[in-house]
Amino acid sequence: MADTVDSSLPASILHGCCFETDRLLVQEFKPTFARWHSAAESKEHEFDVASVVVASLLTEEVTKPLPPHWQGPYSPDRARQWMCDLIDEPMTTLLFAVSKERGTGDTERSGDEDDALKMASDSIVGLVIAFELAVEGSGFQKDIRLGYLLSERFWGQGFASELVRGFVSWCRQFNGTDTRQIASIIGGVARTNVASKRVLVKNGFQSISSGSPSTDGEDEPEEEEFHLQLIG
Ligand SMILES: CC(C)(COP(=O)(O)OP(=O)(O)OC[C@H]1O[C@@H](n2cnc3c(N)ncnc32)[C@H](O)[C@@H]1OP(=O)(O)O)[C@@H](O)C(=O)NCCC(=O)NCCS
Repeated sequence: MADTVDSSLPASILHGCCFETDRLLVQEFKPTFARWHSAAESKEHEFDVASVVVASLLTEEVTKPLPPHWQGPYSPDRARQWMCDLIDEPMTTLLFAVSKERGTGDTERSGDEDDALKMASDSIVGLVIAFELAVEGSGFQKDIRLGYLLSERFWGQGFASELVRGFVSWCRQFNGTDTRQIASIIGGVARTNVASKRVLVKNGFQSISSGSPSTDGEDEPEEEEFHLQLIG
């Protein structure tokens, strides 16, 4: 895994992305992840903790709607590789969403391995994966392709809606403070993923899949694309 930033690469807009909502703290996961660092003591230990926690989050139910190569059971080793692959992509950002309420207190400072794991397991709510795509013909604008997933135990409590609302709000704020701009946010959702479609629609995204669905469902793409234009 790369530890240094290659200065020849175009800068990532989402590097350092960090925001909070009513119930969540959302922060880019990179060594060192500030939220768990005090408990995990070292960068390596922190990665071990993150691998165990992410492996437990990526259950078969959670990965079922995701791309085929992300499906199937996760060991901590597979989860670690999954995270490293994402982090190593220069235009991809992995965000961890943790509960503001859970996992705080003495365990955060004890430095004990089991405590660190417990604190991290209790606090993790979900993950955001964001891919930056250069807008054709524009030297500096980007579209963001947004993916998210939540730990099963937090489903149905409005967390995904809150998470996406927070992300959109961070992007709007970013556009107001930086010359590099986020032109739009795009979400691709399996047609059968009713909850995820609802999350996007509630946050102002519009379906851009062409044509009306056929009555027998044939010839329909399996994924529906949703779009939120921020500029232009
Ligand atoms: C999809 C997912 C992110 C939704 O998370 P969530 O926190 O349960 O979503 P919310 O609680 O914010 O609910 C969003 C909306 O969907 C509705 N909803 C939730 N589960 C539903 C279901 N099984 N069927 C129909 N609607 C559902 C909710 O009622 C809510 O709508 P409302 O506010 O109008 O009542 C979560 O189930 C998940 O991580 N799934 C696996 C990974 C995944 O599918 N990621 C998205 C890939 S595009």
